Amino acid sequence: MRVAVRPPALRHWFSHSIPLAIFALLLLYLSVRSLGARSGCGSRAQPCVPGGTAPFQVRQESGTLEAPERKRPPCLGPRGMLGRMMRRFHASLKPEGDVGLSPYLAGWRALVEFLTPLGSVFAFATREAFTKVTDLEARVHGPDAEHYWSLAAMAAWERRAGLLEQPGAAPRDLTRSSGSRTLLLLHRALRWSQLCLHRVATGALGGPDAGVQCSDAYRAALGPHHPWLVRQTARLAFLAFPGRRRLLELACPGATEAEARAALVRAAGTLEDVYNRTQSLLAERGLLQLA
Ligand SMILES: *[C@@H]1O[C@H](CO)[C@@H](O)[C@H](O)[C@H]1NC(C)=O
Repeated sequence: MRVAVRPPALRHWFSHSIPLAIFALLLLYLSVRSLGARSGCGSRAQPCVPGGTAPFQVRQESGTLEAPERKRPPCLGPRGMLGRMMRRFHASLKPEGDVGLSPYLAGWRALVEFLTPLGSVFAFATREAFTKVTDLEARVHGPDAEHYWSLAAMAAWERRAGLLEQPGAAPRDLTRSSGSRTLLLLHRALRWSQLCLHRVATGALGGPDAGVQCSDAYRAALGPHHPWLVRQTARLAFLAFPGRRRLLELACPGATEAEARAALVRAAGTLEDVYNRTQSLLAERGLLQLA
């Protein structure tokens, strides 16, 4: 007698990708509607980026006048979102070459907080990231906390304890993926964030749109690891990507365009430092194939 059992990969695909895709489509729909409503431009035909001649909007958040010759825009200051993210990620780079998990995850929390208001594509990516951050935090503070203070310590312990997945195979139970595998997935998302922010910061006026640049970054960093349906959903979501000016304004409120670009370049640089360090640690341990 034969019992029809759906293969695990297919079951995984169904249980994971379809709700995700539906959620993302919903977000896309809502954001296209709200973008259209806010800026008076539709989702088709007319780009939502204001024409190249409009002056960059300088927002006065508090009403207090600030000196025009500031050295550092508020977004990089002690209360600024970008500054907070950079300090945390920076603290994760241990002098001995390791990556501290607690500050790395704190950096990720700040990155999620920073990206979420930027648009539905980011919400799409960060929602996934957030559950992974929470999952790893539970380990950092869990019963095995002594093994989860750094990337190297975690990888060594999970290998010793036989917790690592076979390369290329999805874990039997998705909620019990190893910490190393969860970190690898976050690591790829960090790459996308880094490439996207850097390109938004450095893109020339009249060059490709921020949405095109970040969509290319998605294809390079995440696309090869996502199933077809998720890739198509992401492709659609990038159509609702905010324009460069809007992104810069949201990223660094109250700053000039030049200040906002410079701040984002620095933030992307910090992400690149962390990405490079993590990449070497994962590669040295043969962990890049875990997922
Ligand atoms: C990261 O690594 C790449 C490739 O090895 C290198 O080109 C780049 O300069 C590094 N970035 C930083 C910030 O160290």
